[in-house]
Parts: sequence; C-alpha cells; structure tokens
Amino acid sequence: MGERNGAVNLWDTETQEVHGGQTWRLCEEFVEDFSVTTNPLGPPDSAMDLVKEVLPEILHYPAADCGEALTALSKFIKFPKDQLLIGNGASEFIDLIMRAGPPGPFKPGPYVAAYMEYNRAATAADREILPFDSPEDAGITVIIHPNSPTGDCMSLEDIEKEIERTKGMIVLDESFIANYGPNWHEVSGLRLIEKYPEQLAVICSWTKLWACPGLRLGSIAIGAAWYNRLKKLQTPWSCSVLAQAFCTAAASDTEYMERTWNDVHEWKSRQTELVKSLGWKIHPGCVDWVPYIFVDCFDEAEAEKASDVAQAAGCPVRLCASFGTPTYLRLGVRRPEKQDVLFQAWRKAFAAQ
Ligand SMILES: Cc1ncc(COP(=O)(O)O)c(C=O)c1O
Repeated sequence: MGERNGAVNLWDTETQEVHGGQTWRLCEEFVEDFSVTTNPLGPPDSAMDLVKEVLPEILHYPAADCGEALTALSKFIKFPKDQLLIGNGASEFIDLIMRAGPPGPFKPGPYVAAYMEYNRAATAADREILPFDSPEDAGITVIIHPNSPTGDCMSLEDIEKEIERTKGMIVLDESFIANYGPNWHEVSGLRLIEKYPEQLAVICSWTKLWACPGLRLGSIAIGAAWYNRLKKLQTPWSCSVLAQAFCTAAASDTEYMERTWNDVHEWKSRQTELVKSLGWKIHPGCVDWVPYIFVDCFDEAEAEKASDVAQAAGCPVRLCASFGTPTYLRLGVRRPEKQDVLFQAWRKAFAAQ
C-alpha cells in the first residue's frame, strides 16, 4: 500500500508538499516516529523547563527584538546577531527568500533528491524551477548542507566554487550541520557570509537539532543589506514567547550538545548495521554523522512494503517516492530500544518472503 498508509491523504498535494511527521497519528499503537529527522534525545530538558516557566507570559506579546533568544543563538552559532533573524521554523525563511530574494529561476542543489519545500515556495513565488544539472544560471540556488534525504555533504571549497559560478544567490540549508560534532563551525557556510554578503544566505531549522517541530524555530543568517530587506518583510512576532524561551535555553545547553554528538552517533552506527543485515543498501554518499539514513530497498514494491510494515508496527518511516526516489526510505536515527521494535517487525515480514 505504500503511500496508501495515509502519507499522501494527509496533505493537500495541490498546494502542499508531502513531509514525514504526520502518519504517526494514524498508528493504532504508536512506538516511535522514524519518518522525521529530529534529535532522538528529544527536546533539551533545560529548554522544556524554561518553556513551562514562561507559559504564563503568553498573555503578553513576544519580545519584538527576540533579544535574549537572538543573543543565545548568535553565541551558539558564532555569527553576529545583527545579521540574524529567528522565526517560525526554517519554513518561514524558505518562503521569505523565495519571495524577496534576487529575481530569476530557482535551482536545487546537485543531488538526486533534495528537501522539496523550496520547490513549493519557488512555485508559489512564480519562479521557474531549473533541473539541478541545468547549465542556465539561477536567481536562487539552494544547497542543503548536508542534504536531506540523501545525506551527501558538499565541502566549503565546492560551495565557494558554486558561489563564484553564479550571479545569483546561494542559499545553504544547514539544518543538520551542528550534528557534525564540536568542530561544526569549521564546516559551516556561516563563515563564508562575510566574504559573500550579497550572495550567500544560511537557513537553519532548529526544530531538528532540538527536537521541537511542534514549537517551530528557525533562522536565517545573511549579509547586512539583505538582512534589512528581509526584516522589513518578516511577519511580526513570528517567534512566539515559548519559542524564544526555548531557543534561549537550548542554545546555551552544552551538555545536550555533547550527548547529541556522542549518543546519536553511536545509535546511528547501530541502526546502520541493522539496515545492512536486511540486505538493503545505504546511499554511499550519506555521511555518518547526519541523524538519518537514506536506504535503497532496490525495488519500489519492497520499499512500499517496508513502509507499510513499519507503520503497522507503530514506527512510521519516510517512503521517498515524493522525492522522486521510490525505491528509497529515509530513516531517522532513533534509540536502540525503538530500533529493535522496527527491525524485529521487518525481519519477521521479510524473512517470510
Ligand atoms: C532540510 C530541511 N530544511 C528545512 C526544514 C523545515 O524545517 P522547519 O520545521 O523548521 O520549518 C526541514 C524539515 O524537514 C528540512 O529537512
């Protein structure tokens, strides 16, 4: 049944993009959501505690300058806060940059599959969409860095080549870059913004690293001139009282980051071995530090069956048909005890073939 398990029906595909993170609601006995790429540790306790503490403040408007949250985030990402905007998830800035960025077509980065919300936003902003291998120059080229769902990660040298090759803007989506490890700033395109202030923007979804997609938290880092243009167009108070408090605490939680780099990397190795034991192939370009695995089941029917079995076991996975790669699944990395539930169900279903 594949996307019959509800993934498509939950979306108005005329106007919306299909994502993971919805079909868990359809599980009779939900165990864990492998269809999303959020941190398996769950949200930091420090951030949850602060959210609870400030809950009574929702009778006030949020701080219009997002003061404390911006200060904390700016320190965490080592980027000036006067060139940083925070808002209602990365999705807010994906839309904003497509509406307000330099004119011309949109081109996705050079991968067989890439996060599709940029395509929806480009279409909504009346931009032509070029294939990723088109020789034509684009107004906005988006490189997911590292890419989702495939896990490929371009070097900063190659990103600079892309910037120098275009007259338009390069948008890097770095929603997973901090998973790299304590030295993640060295591989982040944030450090290139000073050199290319007119041509480079870095969008980040903090809903992944800090496991808070229901709260919504994202940012854009950008050169000074673009910052002013985008700030004028940003929806007022798009970052709520709760999201600002969450950001302030999460961005200062170094212990949580240590656990992310240690535990999640370990859980990924374990989950990778389990995938291999089923005879499926892990995309060779998928770097070992991203919190997901891009898996080729070699056959569309096998991938659909795997998705259906996972759903029935209470562990939804992301079937990648809507990315244009129907033999693939993307599996979020999850805790060992949750991995065991999913892989036991798969072993049972596929051993019987
Ligand atoms: C690469 C990438 N960018 C952006 C987003 C959207 O993030 P947000 O939930 O912050 O809007 C996602 C969500 O899946 C994503 O995978």
